[in-house]
Amino acid sequence: MALIFVINGPNLNLLGSREPNHYGNNTLEDIELRLKSMAQDLGHQLEHIQHNHEGTLIDLIHEAGKHEVDFIIINPAAYTHTSVALRDALAAVAIPFIEVHLSNIYRREPFRRHSCFSDLALGVISGLGATGYELALTAAHHYLTQPKQET
Ligand code: DQA
Repeated sequence: MALIFVINGPNLNLLGSREPNHYGNNTLEDIELRLKSMAQDLGHQLEHIQHNHEGTLIDLIHEAGKHEVDFIIINPAAYTHTSVALRDALAAVAIPFIEVHLSNIYRREPFRRHSCFSDLALGVISGLGATGYELALTAAHHYLTQPKQET
């Protein structure tokens, strides 16, 4: 059994009502419930965290490092495009992670096309809505349970 953190950044607490044309109609709670039940079926423990403040997200990643978290699924939201500090926190704890975006950041404004995280991530899922989190959890499960191989 692995311990997996799902971390969501600023404004994602507003999912469901926030710009549904970009982010869909699911609330964060809907996503969390589906992921929890999936994780249970796969035999993993999942902790879901959402926070709007950069420093708190950094502290949470440090905690993940101390508590031997095996894997992180993260949607850094707007911090994707700006936060060297959050990137450095993930690099420091060296926990494998997948970067998820509900919207396809490459089809939107040019400033969203740069991510501070993608080159450190095991993989990136962007544009598949809430399903992206479920695909990330499936991929995390494969990563954690299959023998490691070079890609
Ligand atoms: C987002 C995309 C970001 O550009 C944006 O700032 C978000 C959400 C997404 O999930 O599509 O808040 O990460």
